[in-house]
Amino acid sequence: MHKLKAFVPLALVVLISACTAKGDNPGLEYAPQMYHSIPYEPLTQITDKESGQWLSNREDGLGEFYNSNPNNPYSQNVRRPVAGTVRRTSNNILPYRLEKDQLAEAALIENPFPASPEIQAEGKRLYTEYCQHCHGADGKGQGKVGVVYAGVPSYSAPNKKDLPQGHIFHVITHGYNRMWPHASQISEERRWKIARYVQQLQQQ
Ligand code: HEC
Repeated sequence: MHKLKAFVPLALVVLISACTAKGDNPGLEYAPQMYHSIPYEPLTQITDKESGQWLSNREDGLGEFYNSNPNNPYSQNVRRPVAGTVRRTSNNILPYRLEKDQLAEAALIENPFPASPEIQAEGKRLYTEYCQHCHGADGKGQGKVGVVYAGVPSYSAPNKKDLPQGHIFHVITHGYNRMWPHASQISEERRWKIARYVQQLQQQ
């Protein structure tokens, strides 16, 4: 009986420590199919077809850990994109390449989003987060920070109320005189949506 009492904690310690993963040791894997992805993993490359054979129940008979794409050179999982490939965002918008001093060109670009109530509502939400503290809820430049910062114009001022969408997008992206750029904080899609809401404020 005494021997059994001593055995129980010992068995527990052995069991629990078997699960510990550290360094390069992943620990014991129970139900390995939950860890090893069936699609090719871009960032791992195990070319040994026998690797993990001992616990494999794959239908193709290969080792559980083998994960190389036999159709690619060197069985690579990742290949370089074709030369000249251009990244697009989820809404199929091309990356914005105009530099700060190309404001005149920017003004010619159309907003890819329509002035629909949904887009304007989304633009309003983002405007409240990123612009309102300077430009004010009504866009007259009287936000709490704007009053202290001074010189924040009203969107509906005679020389601002007709600023085109591309111009506004460019100003958010690169800044304008005393206004700082916001490209690093706000994605392209969101900047266009904000521009739609600013358009609404220009008319008020
Ligand atoms: C820190 C305060 C501040 C924030 C935040 C800010 N602005 Fe401005 N904004 C200014 C100031 C100041 C000016 C006037 C710049 C000048 O003419 O010197 C300005 C000017 C503008 C103009 C007019 C540009 C022109 O051609 O005359 C637009 C449009 C504009 N901001 C849009 C935005 C939008 C949209 C946001 C939010 C994404 C935003 N601003 C965030 C301070 C701010």
